[in-house]
Amino acid sequence: MQTSSISLWLLLTIIFSFADFQVVEGNSDSRIVCYFSNWAIYRPGVGKYGIDDIPVDLCTHVVYSFIGVNNQTWEVLVLDPEVDYVDNGYRNFTGLRKQYPQVKFEVAVGGWGEGGKKYSEMVAEKSRRDVFIKSVVEFIETYGFDGLDLDWEYPGAADRGGSFSDKDKFYFFVQELRRAFDAQGKGWEITMAVPVAKFRLMEGYHVPELCEDIDAIHVMSYDLRGNWAGFADTHSPLYRRPHDQYAYEKLNVNDGLQLWVDMGCSPKKLIVGVPFYGRTFTLSQGNNDHGLGTYINKEAEGGDPGNFTGARGFLAYYEICVNVTEKNGWTIKWDEYGHVPYAYKGTQWVGYEDEKSVQEKMDFIKAKGYGGAMTWAIDMDDFHGLCGEKNALMKILHKNIKGYKVPEPTFTTTPRPEWARPPSTPAQPGEYPVRPVKPGSKPPSWVPSTTTSTTPQYTQPSTSSTYWPQPSPTTTTTTKRPYEEPDTPRPFPPYRPQQPERPPTRPPPSPSTTTTTSTEAPEAPSGEPDCRQDGYRPAARCDQYYQCVYGKPILFTCKPGTVWNQIMMICDWPENSNRADCQQQFKNNSL
Ligand SMILES: *[C@@H]1O[C@H](CO)[C@@H](O)[C@H](O)[C@H]1NC(C)=O
Ligand SMILES: *[C@@H]1O[C@H](CO)[C@@H](O)[C@H](O)[C@H]1NC(C)=O
Ligand SMILES: *[C@@H]1O[C@H](CO)[C@@H](O)[C@H](O)[C@H]1NC(C)=O
Ligand SMILES: *[C@@H]1O[C@H](CO)[C@@H](O)[C@H](O)[C@H]1NC(C)=O
Repeated sequence: MQTSSISLWLLLTIIFSFADFQVVEGNSDSRIVCYFSNWAIYRPGVGKYGIDDIPVDLCTHVVYSFIGVNNQTWEVLVLDPEVDYVDNGYRNFTGLRKQYPQVKFEVAVGGWGEGGKKYSEMVAEKSRRDVFIKSVVEFIETYGFDGLDLDWEYPGAADRGGSFSDKDKFYFFVQELRRAFDAQGKGWEITMAVPVAKFRLMEGYHVPELCEDIDAIHVMSYDLRGNWAGFADTHSPLYRRPHDQYAYEKLNVNDGLQLWVDMGCSPKKLIVGVPFYGRTFTLSQGNNDHGLGTYINKEAEGGDPGNFTGARGFLAYYEICVNVTEKNGWTIKWDEYGHVPYAYKGTQWVGYEDEKSVQEKMDFIKAKGYGGAMTWAIDMDDFHGLCGEKNALMKILHKNIKGYKVPEPTFTTTPRPEWARPPSTPAQPGEYPVRPVKPGSKPPSWVPSTTTSTTPQYTQPSTSSTYWPQPSPTTTTTTKRPYEEPDTPRPFPPYRPQQPERPPTRPPPSPSTTTTTSTEAPEAPSGEPDCRQDGYRPAARCDQYYQCVYGKPILFTCKPGTVWNQIMMICDWPENSNRADCQQQFKNNSL
């Protein structure tokens, strides 16, 4: 058993031939990607942010967020007709091109508030993909955008209405979209906002292939902690901290980006996300520990809302820099390993970014040879200069990334074995007719009026090398719910959608909560579980578990190849199991 396991490993090693990196001089242009939230216009007072506030000169790409998908027709869905087209939001936005011809104006589809179900249903069928892609092409042509940013959160995410088949179907969709865009011949870009949790990548993304077909990958290396985690912590730590255990071990900027590289993405396509906001918490009453990972009152759903963003658990940078000061009674600390600040006052706790932490992230991007920086979102920078210079954080992005040339990573690769490639859809004759939309042609139903704009030419950067992932020696699990969009794409006040809570993994359970986890089950349990409290329980078989619902156990079976992980409370890779007998099963199964 052991011997054949070893020889299989050797065989795999030979087949895969480890990617060998070195950085040489290159000259690709770097990116500074600025997300713009169309609902920031509804924020009151100095929080109100419109298209004229965008510091376009500090960005290489500006992304209008969001459009959606119509679950009846499968066409593009305009999310805020009043702002987006009655008041000319789209056109004003792309109209900025007159002053800034070198900047790309993209539109993002999806976002947290759109959910995942519609997207799963849309990609599931070729006929729906065709309808959606056709309508995207018309939309982009009509409003003069330069490309589409895919923000489906997330393909394959069962907890977001996704399904197992999303991984292949999403890849089909991207291939078809690429062909449709290329057929237009206008250099339209496809970019994509992505998570960093390993299980999300495994279940939804054909990483090497997507990275080849897509112009840039916007890595959402933020929201890595939040009220949902059950403890107070910074949400975009640069490196792993000593207290990061289990699901949180690799949930930091450095390891998240490295995961994309290890799974086969070229570093030059990876754009590192930098949040211009803080995640806030309300600590448990009487808790005098203010350190990273301290107890919170989870029922409070985060810290008090900001006066402008108006959502619990969340503060814009300009709300923080004005009021979170020592003068106002806050204690300000530095996360030594995470290289980010946090602050507390009474029961209020916030983990955020400041000029120093943003500068450190820029140093990191350049040292690692990543493709640039992305921010969510420009409307949360100090755009009025309430604390000093206007757009202080954007200026740091710009100053560092503007002149930075992305080095060319070189690999020695073997051709990817045919069996390892995901299936793909062949182009069908006449699939996407090369048919520029003619001025005066009948507009699609969602377009109120058309005057065709012209888009400038853009030559797509060449993608020559083939990237193949290095098998990573260790695998880590990640939490089921690390990401939330920092705001909802609807008018003020934004109420954030919450996913069902999962028990915390890092801190001890707070006395006030009814956490039902039996954390350790080192041996196979026998018989039916104790269901006096609802929750998840291990079963005798490695690949099964119970859910106690109203006191009754219901038996579930994990997807083939995975086993129940009682610590994470997810079906997980066997090597991550907390039970020795189930890890053993992995070794046997791998043959
Ligand atoms: C489509 O979306 C609408 C509004 O979001 C929702 O009420 C409806 O149930 C959805 N229909 C289907 C078939 O999913
Ligand atoms: C678009 O520009 C026009 C003219 O400046 C202005 O009246 C309108 O409010 C703008 N719309 C948006 C959504 O910014
Ligand atoms: C909001 O305003 C109130 C009083 O107007 C102030 O006490 C509070 O600190 C402000 N909140 C934030 C987050 O700035
Ligand atoms: C800061 O706090 C004051 C009151 O202390 C409040 O009026 C103001 O709106 C706050 N400013 C920001 C930017 O949150």
